[in-house]
Amino acid sequence: MSVLPRILGPLLSLGLSGLGALGCVRVHVVPAPSAVQSVAPEDAPLSPYDAPRPRAESMNTEYYLGSEVDEAAGFKSFAQQIQAIQDHQSASQDQPVQRGFHGKGHGCLQGTMTLLPDRDPRTRFGVFADAHEGWPVWVRFSNGVGWKQADRTLDARGMAVKLMGVPGEKLIADEAATQDFLMTNSPAPVGRNAEEFMRFAHTNSRGKPQTIGYALTRPRTVLPAVTKTNAVDSMLAIQYWSGGAYHLGAHQAVKFTSRACEASERTPSRKDPDYLRTDLQDAAQEELCFTFFVQLQVDAKRTPIEDAARVWDPSVSPELPVAEIRLPAQDFTSAEQDGFCDALSFNPWHSISAHQPMGHINRARRFVYEASRAHRDGGLEPQAPVEPAAEPEADPAAEPEEGPEAIEDTAPPAP
Ligand code: HEM
Repeated sequence: MSVLPRILGPLLSLGLSGLGALGCVRVHVVPAPSAVQSVAPEDAPLSPYDAPRPRAESMNTEYYLGSEVDEAAGFKSFAQQIQAIQDHQSASQDQPVQRGFHGKGHGCLQGTMTLLPDRDPRTRFGVFADAHEGWPVWVRFSNGVGWKQADRTLDARGMAVKLMGVPGEKLIADEAATQDFLMTNSPAPVGRNAEEFMRFAHTNSRGKPQTIGYALTRPRTVLPAVTKTNAVDSMLAIQYWSGGAYHLGAHQAVKFTSRACEASERTPSRKDPDYLRTDLQDAAQEELCFTFFVQLQVDAKRTPIEDAARVWDPSVSPELPVAEIRLPAQDFTSAEQDGFCDALSFNPWHSISAHQPMGHINRARRFVYEASRAHRDGGLEPQAPVEPAAEPEADPAAEPEEGPEAIEDTAPPAP
């Protein structure tokens, strides 16, 4: 296949991508930074084994308007826009108000994230620190647009992981004991920053010719993400990336990525509009396994933070395996569990300071995700999932064991 159709196919379909729904939305354009302010860490670098500080400072972060506070005014405008987008999508698709993006979930599966005992010492911070062995998790697989459409339609795909029972002060208060990791199947999001993300959305709302023109004139910052929107065979057959950067402890920035532990060929019929869910259901008859990797920032040029559209090349920053996400055989398809899954809220700011989101695109998400959640039915903090495997009868007199299974009360999951 020549390169052009591969590029133009997704571009021509962008009217379906949900971003075309933005016609009614005014975009607040944040002026380009005149002077970028670099914030240096206050203290000398910590050794990899030092506990992260309670408030990880903005290591290597550059505020576009000079300070976090000044930026926030622009982000509040983005938050208003996402709610207008949700309303517009609801009306134009004749569907209930739902997530501004990633409206269609293929399912929420429960399992565990188990830390790899031989993980790189430089990765042992936060939830990957030596003190931990692993965590109960919920994983939500999704399509990218903010409404439900057939899976064969060109779109981004999402994998959102919620660790349960995570102690420590959270960066936002709406969930007490979770740590979320959000990924899509593109190593770079659209745009270097949230301003470009929103400008792309605005341009796209004016129609396909403008969108094509916009994307083709931005081969570095827009095309890489757009060309990843081809239909996929299976949620197990693709790799997922964080796109933006995150702290890993006070003085290291990382991106993260995940893919199935072993490649498997899956070729479901795409006639089924929900074939990605059907395929997932079929695959979940047996345990599913994903490896979770981090990439360490190497330097500001090849692995930048503020420019999210710059892919961190694994030849420069290798993918270091830190954990396995194991989802035991399960049926996740009950109506109750689907309702629970729809109600969940994943947010990169559901985080302890050791994993604080970094970069303009991530700082904007603190405002936008909360606005999207508040505008739909959602926001439920789940209880720690119960191991699906049969468990012995609880002995009320027994002391709770150490480890992730004993985190919080093992109250049944919300479904
Ligand atoms: C930087 C790369 C990004 C990645 C990897 C990413 C990934 C995701 C994923 C996986 C979800 C689905 C979460 C779930 O299953 O509930 C999601 C939801 C969402 N994303 Fe992003 N996203 C990115 C950037 C952005 C940006 C820049 C914006 C807007 C400024 C945005 C707006 C949203 C919204 C509004 C939701 C729905 C939130 C809710 O209602 O719960 N995302 N994102």
